[in-house]
Amino acid sequence: MTKKLFVKTFGCQMNVYDSARMADIMRTLGYEQTDTPDAADMIIFNTCHIREKASEKIFSELGVFKPLKEARRKEGRDLILVVAGCVVQAESDEFMKRAKFVDIALGPQTYHRLPEMLAKLERKKAKRLIDVEFPAVSKFDSLPETRSNGVSSFLAIQEGCDRFCSYCVVPYTRGAEYSRPLADIVAEARVLAETGTKDLMLLGQNVNAWHGEDENGKESDLSRLVAAVAEIDGIERIRYVTSYPSDFTDDMIAMHRDIPKVMPYLHLPIQSGSDVILKKMNRRYTTADYERVVEKLRAARPDIALSSDFITGFPEETDEDFRQTLDLVRRVTFAQSYSFKYSPRPGTPAAAMKNQIPESVKGERLEELQALLLEQHAAFNMRMLNRETDVLLEADGHRAGTLIGHTPYMQNVVVRAPQSEKGKTVRVKITKTAATTLEGDIVS
Ligand code: 5AD
Ligand code: SF4
Repeated sequence: MTKKLFVKTFGCQMNVYDSARMADIMRTLGYEQTDTPDAADMIIFNTCHIREKASEKIFSELGVFKPLKEARRKEGRDLILVVAGCVVQAESDEFMKRAKFVDIALGPQTYHRLPEMLAKLERKKAKRLIDVEFPAVSKFDSLPETRSNGVSSFLAIQEGCDRFCSYCVVPYTRGAEYSRPLADIVAEARVLAETGTKDLMLLGQNVNAWHGEDENGKESDLSRLVAAVAEIDGIERIRYVTSYPSDFTDDMIAMHRDIPKVMPYLHLPIQSGSDVILKKMNRRYTTADYERVVEKLRAARPDIALSSDFITGFPEETDEDFRQTLDLVRRVTFAQSYSFKYSPRPGTPAAAMKNQIPESVKGERLEELQALLLEQHAAFNMRMLNRETDVLLEADGHRAGTLIGHTPYMQNVVVRAPQSEKGKTVRVKITKTAATTLEGDIVS
């Protein structure tokens, strides 16, 4: 009999990928995914620790499942609660102490051991289990084969990070940087293509520093990997995220010009427009370095659009530093951006810096920055009006007779189209633009 698995994912794309891989593992044990927790036999919470009081949120959300679990037990069945991800890694002791009804807790590097842990529970060898190790053997070597869950898929090509930006918890929760070998990635991409993936997002915390082994055991680089993935039939669109500004090589810039499958859209977080703050953040580039990379990218691919991440109110950020961020945004212009108030992460160097900025100031700066970024985002969408663009149709629209898809710039487009077009790339003329969604009609 098939059992049911409900997965709830918080945080970044890497977590979305990890959740999909946990579902792959559980599928081999006879679990099928469901999108409601009600009938689930197992619930996995995949948590994020990057900002704010993530653990508090998780505890309160998890609390909902406690009565459900107790009710199940009375019926003589069980509901297995698994908590995975970075919150567990960062706060393992605290976590197990507080969430007594959690059966299994796993860090991001140990979820391939889920079957073993489950077996131990079932054999009543343990009441509750936690595994937050960083095993020497990569989890990637023991994951079962994956398959597409739609036309867009994520593929992790790298894990962890060695950059140690002074605000960031990732090097502590996900561990040291590890680049998967080229052949393994290409093999996984092939399976994804064969099972329906057309838009492939290559994932890594510092993805343009990927340096996995090639078939001869020599270090490779992202431009070679992307070229290899671009050879795969069925893959129409290639993206990669997240890039580190100073790790771009000329070959990587050239691939935006030379490989049509590489989308003209790049997420390139700058974090701040002040060189003083960048230094304190331990970001190893200046604003001039960043703008030079952007200039080269735009020369190679004039229609490229950028997105970025920003942090406001990093310790010691002055009004003048913040002005410089606004100035940089005006100079570079972004199609889309993510911006956050600085959030001290326990154990990171920035959390111990003296001049922490008051919440109110962080908030005011964030508001001012977001207004500017939104203006640029809206202007970018407006420019699409009456233009033709390729749209990969991915899902049903809310209105009957419509499908929703994405442009090369990841904009959502509602297209009047029959079901038979789902999964296809069509040429669309944009007839309406709004802040977050576009509308359009297929042109023959
Ligand atoms: N506070 C605020 N934002 C953060 N980010 C990472 N760590 C923090 C933090 N401590 C942001 C960065 C990063 C994005 C994924 O999250 O902008 O690029
Ligand atoms: Fe965190 Fe910096 Fe690594 Fe990105 S590059 S994951 S911000 S330490």
